[in-house]
Amino acid sequence: MSSDPPEDPRAEPPRKRMVRAPTRGDAKGRNQAARLKTADTRSMSSQQWLNRQINDPFVKEAKARGYRSRAAFKLLEIDDKYHVLNPAAKVVDLGCAPGGWVQVCLERGVTRVVGVDLLPVPPLAPAILIEGDFTAEGMEAGLIDALGAGPNLILSDMAANTMGHAQTDHLRIVALVEQAARFALRVLPPGGHFIAKAFQGGEMEAVLRLLRAGFQEVRHFKPKSSRAGSSELYLIALRKKAVVNLPEASSVA
Ligand SMILES: C[S@@+](CC[C@H](N)C(=O)[O-])C[C@H]1O[C@@H](n2cnc3c(N)ncnc32)[C@H](O)[C@@H]1O
Repeated sequence: MSSDPPEDPRAEPPRKRMVRAPTRGDAKGRNQAARLKTADTRSMSSQQWLNRQINDPFVKEAKARGYRSRAAFKLLEIDDKYHVLNPAAKVVDLGCAPGGWVQVCLERGVTRVVGVDLLPVPPLAPAILIEGDFTAEGMEAGLIDALGAGPNLILSDMAANTMGHAQTDHLRIVALVEQAARFALRVLPPGGHFIAKAFQGGEMEAVLRLLRAGFQEVRHFKPKSSRAGSSELYLIALRKKAVVNLPEASSVA
């Protein structure tokens, strides 16, 4: 399995001057994918990001339906298949900014949601949104305090920042998923669920071992709304076991 940097749908490209507005269609009025004419200084990756955003049907649909992110569709697809969102769910949403998954939770009847993100998230009542680092000391207890009860569903769409060194980036990504998984294994009651963004790659196997030890069913899911070229996938860990014997901490934690 290969690894590549995580996709952050909210990531902004470097701010550069746009010299001409996007156009649609050719001289004969035929429809073409919209393209931005750019200053020579715009980097190739920045240009690609812009073209992708402009032409992405999920970005358009998210805007039309009032979702704060295209990521909302990933949780909608996950829930259509695995049915984890309901009024009895008590949810912790790790890496929740800008709030698309929280919106989906609320839309599907969840009333108790606590989200955390490094970035500030504009309010989405009745959800409680905390600005901070999930890995910071005391944060796990703080999330449970804010929820006012033990969660029975933990969601993680977190993506660790990448540094451009593939192997190091992969290890950082896996370490973050593993920390979320261990949190879920500690605090979920039997029957609770854990759903997390992950990326294909060798070290992810350690996280899968952990989840298989703790949950009755563990699946991979690639939503249609996840970009085809990305190695992103979602780990779906259903129904935490009543008795869990965890393997030793992995080398990446
Ligand atoms: C793909 S976005 C989440 C999108 C979100 N699910 C939505 O629907 O709007 C990933 C988020 O993870 C956050 N993140 C990454 N590492 C984190 C950490 N250690 N603690 C909290 N948030 C983190 C990033 O700041 C980023 O906002």
